[in-house]
Amino acid sequence: MRSRKIAAILAILLLLGVLIGTSQATAGPSPSYPTGDPQTWVIYQIVIDRFYDGNTSNNNPAKSPGLYDPTKTNWRLYWGGDIDGIIAKLPYLYELGVTAIWISPVFDNIDVAINTSSGLQAGYHGYWPKDFKVIEEHFGSWSTFYKLIQEARKYNITVIIDFVVNHSNPSDAGEYGALYDNGTFVTDYPTDAKYATVDPITRSLSNIYNHNGGITNWNDRWEVRYKNLFNLADFNQLNPWVDRYLKESTALYLKAGIGGIRLDAVKHVEPGWLKTYADYVYAIKNVFMFGEWYQSFNDEMYWDMVKFANDSGISVINIPLQQVLVDVFAYDTKTMYDLDNAVKKYTSNFMWQNKLVNFIDSHDVPRFLSLSKSITRFHQVLAFVMTAPGIPVIYYGDEQYLHYDATNEFGQVGGDPYNRPMMTSWDTTTTAFKLIKALAQLRRANTALAYGLVTTRYVSSDVYIFERKFFGNVVLVAINRNLNSPVAVSNVYTSLPDGVYSDYLGGLINGTSIKVVGGKFSVTLPPGSVSVWQYKAVPSGPWVGAIDPTMGRAGNVVVISGEGFGSQPGQVLITNGQSTWSATVTYWSDKSIEFIVPSGVTTPLNDNHVTVIVKRADGATSNGIAFQYLSGRQIPVIFEVQNTKGTTLETVPGEFLWLTGSVPELSNWSPATTRAVGPMLCPAWPNWFVVASVPANTYIEFKFLKAPLGGTGVWEPGSNHAYTTPSDGIGRVSVTANG
Ligand code: NOJ
Ligand code: NOJ
Ligand code: CA
Repeated sequence: MRSRKIAAILAILLLLGVLIGTSQATAGPSPSYPTGDPQTWVIYQIVIDRFYDGNTSNNNPAKSPGLYDPTKTNWRLYWGGDIDGIIAKLPYLYELGVTAIWISPVFDNIDVAINTSSGLQAGYHGYWPKDFKVIEEHFGSWSTFYKLIQEARKYNITVIIDFVVNHSNPSDAGEYGALYDNGTFVTDYPTDAKYATVDPITRSLSNIYNHNGGITNWNDRWEVRYKNLFNLADFNQLNPWVDRYLKESTALYLKAGIGGIRLDAVKHVEPGWLKTYADYVYAIKNVFMFGEWYQSFNDEMYWDMVKFANDSGISVINIPLQQVLVDVFAYDTKTMYDLDNAVKKYTSNFMWQNKLVNFIDSHDVPRFLSLSKSITRFHQVLAFVMTAPGIPVIYYGDEQYLHYDATNEFGQVGGDPYNRPMMTSWDTTTTAFKLIKALAQLRRANTALAYGLVTTRYVSSDVYIFERKFFGNVVLVAINRNLNSPVAVSNVYTSLPDGVYSDYLGGLINGTSIKVVGGKFSVTLPPGSVSVWQYKAVPSGPWVGAIDPTMGRAGNVVVISGEGFGSQPGQVLITNGQSTWSATVTYWSDKSIEFIVPSGVTTPLNDNHVTVIVKRADGATSNGIAFQYLSGRQIPVIFEVQNTKGTTLETVPGEFLWLTGSVPELSNWSPATTRAVGPMLCPAWPNWFVVASVPANTYIEFKFLKAPLGGTGVWEPGSNHAYTTPSDGIGRVSVTANG
C-alpha cells in the first residue's frame, strides 16, 4: 500500500518534471524569470498564518509563547499557518495556474502580544518586524524558506516577499520598536529617541528612527514620509546604518532566489531613497518590484504615485482601480463608464501600464463577497482583473469564496482582520477556481493580455467591451453586469479577423459566441455574463512586449520579452536617437532575451530614457521599448536650496520647487515636472529640499525650477550649482538660491 502510494507520487513528480521540462524548452523563459516574465504572471497573495498549518510543532514556539490561539477566536493572534503549509499546497496552486505567490512578511516579528482595546494582538500578519535577517519562528526558518523557493520552482511558481521598508514595529507598546541585526539588539524607539537630533535640512528629529509623532495631515508630503504611520516606528532611511541594514537584509532574500518584492507602504518612504534601493536590488538580481501606494484617482498625491512608478524602477499596486471596481461591481454606485474612464486614466498615466498590479481583494480591504452577495458579480470582477491591462493578483481563498462578514472596530463589514479567515476548503471544481485557471492559461497562451494595449469597443452603463491587442494577437472581453436583462449591442468594431469565435470560457460565466463580419459584430450579451474571445496570430517579426526591469545601469541583467525573436541569437540595440550601442546578449530564445546593459550609454537632453530594439538573426528589427538608464551606482543625496525669498524661486500657494541637472538621474536638464526631481519639500520656508537618487562619485551640475504640479518649470537664474557626490553613504549639498 505504502510503496504503491510512493510509486504514484513518483509518477506524478516525473510527469511534472517532463511538463516543466518541455515547457521550458519550447517557451524558453529567461534564467532570470524561469516562470515567465512578470507581465505574464498570475500572482496569488497569501497571508502565511491563515493559509495552511503544515507543521504544528511551530505553533507555540518557545521563543514567543502564548501568541497562538488554537480556538481561532481571537483574529489577531497566530492561528498556525506556516511556510511548510504553503509547500504542502503547491500542487493545489499549480492546479490553479498561478505563477507567483506573494507571501506576507516572513521577518521575525515581535515576540509579545500587545494589549489593546480590541484585545490581544500579535504580529501574525508580519507587519511588525524586529529582525529582517531572521525568519519568524511561527512560520519556519531560513531552511524552510529556501525549501519553499526550491519546491515552488518545481511547480513553476516563483516567490514574492513582502518587504516592510517603512517601519519596524509599534513604537509605543509591545517591544517598543525593538530592532535586531541578525539576533543582535540594535535599538528600540525610546532608546533611539535619546540620540535623535534635528536634521538641519530635512527638519526631521531622527536617528535610526524618525521621532516626529504620528501622521495627521495625510496630504502633506513631509508628514507622510517623516512621521509615523499609525504608531509604527518609522525608519530614517537617510541614516547610513538603516540604509545599509535594509539593503543588506534584502540581499539575503535575493540570494535565496526570490522572484519579486512587494514593498510595503512606499507612499511613506522617501522616493529618492527607494530608487537607490531598486538600483541596489537590480545590480544583484533581476526581480519584479512593486510598491503599495495607498491612493485614489482623485487625490492630489495620485500625481506623485504616477511619478513614482514612472521614475523609480518600481511598479505599484493599482489601488485606485480597485476602489472603482468595488463601486461598479459591488455597490452599483458607479457605472461601466466610470470603469472605462479609470482604465483610460491609468493606462495613459503610467508609462509601463501592463506592470501595474491589479486586484479586487486583499488583506487590507473587505473581501468583495463581504460587500456584495452576488457570486455572479464576483466572477465578473475576477474576470476583469485577470484580463485588464496589468498583472492580476488573486487573494488567497477567492477561488473558494472565502469570506467572513463580522464588523470590525471601524464599522467595516469583513474588514481587517475579518478579511483574513483561515483557508478551509481546497475544492478545485468551483466556478471561481475554473475561471481563474482558464484565464491563467489564456495569459500564457495569448500575449495580448500580458503585453497588449487596451481599446474600448463598447460601453454603456451596464456593458463594457474592451479589447487587448499585441500586434496580431487579440483578446476581446465583454461584460454585462445587468443580472436580470440581456443587452443587445450591434455593429461593434473589433480587431479580431472575420470569423466565428466561441467563448474562451466555454459559457462558464454565461458567455456567448460571436461572428465577426467586415471587422464588426453584433451580439446579445446574456445577463450577468462574461464572454472572452481571442485570436492568436503567428508573429510576423520580432514583437517586443516587455522589458524587466524598466531601469538599470551598466552591467545589470535585463530581460526583453515578446515573441518571434527566432531561435538564433541576433542583437540587442540601445539607441538614444543619435548613437546606438550593441548589448552583450547572455540568453536568447524565441520569446525571451537577456542582455547586459552596456557602459557609456548617454540619454538625450531632457530625458533619462533610451530605446531598446531587438534585431533578429535574419535582420528583421522590432518595435522599440523605453528603458530608464542610470549613469552609475546610485546613492541618496539630500539637495537643499536656501533663502528663496525675494528670488525667482519664491513660490505662491500651489507652486513647488523642482531639481534638474546634468545627469540622467536629474533628467538631463528637463524643466518638465514629470521628469525633474520633485516636488521638493518645504518644512522650513524659504528653504526647500529633496532627496534624489544620483550616481556615486560623480560631478553634477544642477539648478532648481519653480512650477505647479504637472507644469513646466521656471528656471532659477544665474550659473549652475555644482557638487561631486560621495562614493558611499548619504550625500548632502546645500546652496543659496541665485537671485
Ligand atoms: C500596508 C499593509 O498592507 C498593511 O496590512 C499594513 O498594516 C501596513 N502597510 C503597515 O505595515
Ligand atoms: C493591524 C493590521 O492588521 C496590520 O496589517 C497592521 O500592520 C497593523 N495593524 C498596524 O499597526
Ligand atoms: Ca504551524
